[in-house]
This record gives sequence, C-alpha cells and structure tokens, in this order.
Amino acid sequence: MALQVSYLLSLLLLVLLLPYSTFAQNSSDQSPGSFLIAQENGSYWASPSGDFAFGFQQIGNEGYLLAIWFNKIPEETIVWSANGDNLVPTGSKVELTEGGQLVLSDPTGTGIWKSESGKGYLGVVHAAMLDTGNFVVASQDGGHLWRSFDHPTDTMLPTQTMSRGRKLVAHYSESNNSKGRFQFALNTDGNLVLQTLAYPIDYWSNTAYWESGTNGSGFQVVFNESGSIYLTATNGSILKTVSSNSVSKQDFYQRVVMEYDGVLIHYGYQKSSTNTSNAWSILSVVMPPNICEITEQIGSGACGFNSYCELGEYGRPNCICPTGYILIDPNDVMKGCRQNFLPQSCDEASSKTDQFDLRELVSVNWPFTDYGRYVNVTEDWCRKACLGDCFCAVAVFGGGQCWKKKIPLSNGKKDPSEIGTKLDVSELTLLVGCLSAWFSFQILETKGP
Ligand SMILES: *[C@@H]1O[C@H](CO)[C@@H](O)[C@H](O)[C@H]1NC(C)=O
Ligand SMILES: *[C@@H]1O[C@H](CO)[C@@H](O)[C@H](O)[C@H]1NC(C)=O
Ligand SMILES: *[C@@H]1O[C@H](CO)[C@@H](O)[C@H](O)[C@H]1NC(C)=O
Ligand SMILES: *[C@@H]1O[C@H](CO)[C@@H](O)[C@H](O)[C@H]1NC(C)=O
Ligand SMILES: *[C@@H]1O[C@H](CO)[C@@H](O)[C@H](O)[C@H]1NC(C)=O
Ligand SMILES: *[C@@H]1O[C@H](CO)[C@@H](O)[C@H](O)[C@H]1NC(C)=O
Ligand SMILES: *[C@@H]1O[C@H](CO)[C@@H](O)[C@H](O)[C@H]1NC(C)=O
Ligand SMILES: *[C@@H]1O[C@H](CO)[C@@H](O)[C@H](O)[C@H]1NC(C)=O
Repeated sequence: MALQVSYLLSLLLLVLLLPYSTFAQNSSDQSPGSFLIAQENGSYWASPSGDFAFGFQQIGNEGYLLAIWFNKIPEETIVWSANGDNLVPTGSKVELTEGGQLVLSDPTGTGIWKSESGKGYLGVVHAAMLDTGNFVVASQDGGHLWRSFDHPTDTMLPTQTMSRGRKLVAHYSESNNSKGRFQFALNTDGNLVLQTLAYPIDYWSNTAYWESGTNGSGFQVVFNESGSIYLTATNGSILKTVSSNSVSKQDFYQRVVMEYDGVLIHYGYQKSSTNTSNAWSILSVVMPPNICEITEQIGSGACGFNSYCELGEYGRPNCICPTGYILIDPNDVMKGCRQNFLPQSCDEASSKTDQFDLRELVSVNWPFTDYGRYVNVTEDWCRKACLGDCFCAVAVFGGGQCWKKKIPLSNGKKDPSEIGTKLDVSELTLLVGCLSAWFSFQILETKGP
C-alpha cells in the first residue's frame, strides 16, 4: 500500500513536472505561453544538436542572466545576454507572449527586458534555439520577428553578420557582464572601428583606435561558416579581412569576442577531444596590433588612471601601478591605481619636501598630463623642481627638457621605441613621487624575520 501511494505520488509529481521537463528536452520549438524560471539547475531551451542553449545562467551570487551559451562544453561560455546591466533574482521568468515577444520579468512581475515586437504582428508565433547559436522568434510563414544575431552583445558566431549601426560592446570585466569601455562597431557611414566609450555612458567619445577606413563602402561584417571574418561592400566583395584561420568547422567551435580589455579575439574550441585540459584557445588576436597605443585626449587610455600599459601575451594589455601606487580595486586592474602615501601638502607651513623622493621608471610615459615644461635644464634641476612643487606627481626628463605632470595620470604606456619617437629625446627618465613612509616600509621589510 505504502509502495502504491509513493508510486502514485511520484506519478503525480511527474505529471506536475512535465511542462518543465519538456523544456529541458530536445524540443527546439517553443509556442506562446512557454516560459523558463530562474533557479539553480533550472531548465533551458537547447538547440536540436544540443550545442547551444537559451535560459538563465547564475552569475556568482549576484543573480541570473538571461543568456545563450555553448551547452556541450564544461566552461561556462555565454555568447549573448539580455540583462548584463541588471541581473535578476531567483524566481524571475522569461516568457514567449502571443504577440511574439520575449518578456523577462522579476518575481514581482516587474518587466526587466523585452525583445522588440514584430510590428503589429498578430499571427501564430514560435521561438527556437537554432544550432548556429541564434535564438529566433518566428511567425508561421517563417518570417523572423526577432533574432538574437541581430542584437549581439560582445560576441559574434559563425554565420552571424553585423550590419551598419550594429556593434559588439565589451563587458565591464572578465566576470561582470555590464557594458564596459570598448566597442567594435560598423558605423552607419560604413567605417568599421574599434573605439572607447565614455563609460558609463554608452556613447563613443574619442576617435577610433583602429578603423577600416571604408567610409561610404562598408556594408556588413560577415563571420562565415568556415570561420573567416571580413567586411564586405554592398555587392559582396571583401573590403577588409578581419580574421581568417584554417581550423575546420566540423572540429572546432568558434567565437569572436570584443574583450573587456579592448582587444578583439577569435577563439576556437576543439569539439571532440579526449584532452582533459581542453579549453578555448586563441586562433588569432584580431586587433588592434598594440592596445597600449590607445591615446585619448579625454579618458584614461587603454588602462585606468595612474597606471601604465605594457603589451602582454596575445596582444592583451598588462595594466601596472607605478612604485608607490596600488590598485584601487585588486579585483579590477582596469580601474586604475591610487597613491599609497599621503600626497605632498601645498600648505607652506606643513610642506615637508625632504620626506619625498623620486623613483625612476625607464621608458614609461603619460602624455597629456603635463602642466609644466622647461628647456635647457639638467636632470638634477628637473628632480628638484618636481620635489619642490606640491602639484608635481611625475617628472619626465630627456634631451635637456623637463616636463612636470599632474594627477590623474592618463594614457600611461611602457614602450621604449614609441617614447623615443614621440618626444624626440634620446634619453628619458621618469620619476614618481613617493612619501618617506615608503622608505620606512622598506627598512621594516629588510629587518623582517
Ligand atoms: C544543482 O546541481 C548540483 C550539481 O549537480 C548539485 O550539487 C546541487 O545540489 C543542485 N542544486 C539544487 C538546488 O538542486
Ligand atoms: C538532440 O537531438 C539530436 C539528434 O536529432 C542529437 O544529436 C542531440 O544530441 C540531442 N540533444 C540533446 C540535448 O538531447
Ligand atoms: C558590474 O560593474 C558595474 C560597474 O562597476 C557595477 O555597477 C555592477 O554592480 C557590477 N555587477 C556585478 C554583478 O558585480
Ligand atoms: C571616416 O569616418 C570617421 C568617422 O566615422 C572619420 O573620423 C574618418 O576621418 C573618416 N575617414 C575617411 C578616410 O574619410
Ligand atoms: C569564408 O571566407 C573565406 C575567405 O573569403 C573563403 O575562403 C571561404 O570559402 C568562405 N567559406 C564559406 C563557407 O563561404
Ligand atoms: C564592389 O564594390 C566595391 C566597392 O564599392 C568596388 O570597388 C568593386 O569594384 C565592386 N565589385 C564589383 C564586381 O562590382
Ligand atoms: C590540451 O588542450 C590544451 C588547451 O587547449 C592545450 O594547451 C594542450 O596542448 C592540449 N594537449 C594535448 C595533448 O593535445
Ligand atoms: C641652451 O643653452 C645653451 C648654452 O647656454 C645656448 O647656447 C642655447 O641657445 C640654449 N638653448 C635654448 C633652447 O635656450
């Protein structure tokens, strides 16, 4: 008897769970009224091959992201998301409406995001996660009302195209899906560009740090099935090859990402591999050739304020704090650095010049933050001039010239050749102000156990 009851109960449970479990199955078609709930180990809508899935992804303990991801590989790899700037709590819901809209709402029913509606469309609709990674809402006659491929976030996939006015916007950081500081955009004039944004406002403020120069002729960016990425003219001819590689689509998953640090990268992942440490590998660093060369009149440059950029592996920037400075946020190197000492006081009475010293950094420069320039002086004069000036954070000396620089330092970069050509000096020394506390710290350290 007890057995029968539990049998009936489990049968009842099965019936109750059925509407959920159908979502997790291999059904690629969803009809109006279908929904998903944000919860731990929640259901999702997979593509027929199972390569991609649409649903909720938990982001740390912060909440859930409505997203599309690679579903057959262990690494969480999100390729599209709806609410990167506004994560939703457990119990939130996404539903396909009769009108053909995807509506994301929080547990109180407040709307968080919705897909654009198919203008006044009233026919029967369905939605499907396709094997290309494109999530589509389609009408009965096969017309697309909405496609995730038309609204990319930071990623493009093979078979995806990007038309004029569309863009990939980098994430804020590796783990934070909010919009960040860099974008890869096909401008409405046909010019394909990489540029910085006036964070946190989603508007570009500076000249591009890379551009195709195809004003008037650029029509769309194509990521073709075999993994080549190029810009075409209206007639389909290739104007600019962005990336090409020789891996096969049968063997590799591919994606191109506008990375949070400003570099556009083409990744590949071997599909069926017995290699236990299988991972996304870089097929090519698409651009720019040297991220540290980003120079903006207004803005911090490639790295955050008071830091400097050194070109690292795979074209990625290493953002470094100069001696005496530390990261504002140890988890966010792009946020810049702060002085790890009390700055020199400009109060004549309490100003203690002798408590400060200068440290030398070779081949580093911060253009644009000059407020003083002196010619025909000696290095010693330059040193003293900076130490005796409460505004002076950095002094640059070379070829008999001395520059004084102020906080916050911007566009910092380490590159011997560049500084040599730009400032036209043979020998360059850079000095950073430091409080004497830094030296007592040093003494303590050497005395240590
Ligand atoms: C989710 O799945 C993981 C791994 O299978 C498991 O450890 C965890 O208990 C599950 N959580 C819930 C709420 O079911
Ligand atoms: C869906 O079905 C296809 C064959 O039609 C199969 O190759 C694939 O593995 C299935 N996916 C899932 C998630 O079950
Ligand atoms: C992501 O970064 C933004 C900007 O700093 C911040 O407002 C937001 O809270 C962060 N989100 C998460 C999930 O940490
Ligand atoms: C192309 O347009 C951009 C603005 O989108 C402009 O800065 C640039 O000078 C133009 N280049 C050419 C070659 O016309
Ligand atoms: C993709 O583009 C490359 C370069 O133009 C070309 O060689 C290749 O045949 C194209 N592949 C497909 C499937 O169109
Ligand atoms: C296609 O358009 C480009 C740029 O507008 C032009 O240079 C090229 O000659 C055209 N090719 C053909 C075959 O019409
Ligand atoms: C396994 O995969 C990793 C990451 O892609 C790669 O670095 C390594 O060389 C591979 N090992 C073998 C034996 O193929
Ligand atoms: C620098 O000093 C030298 C020697 O006093 C003088 O000949 C030269 O004209 C000066 N240069 C400038 C730029 O003032």
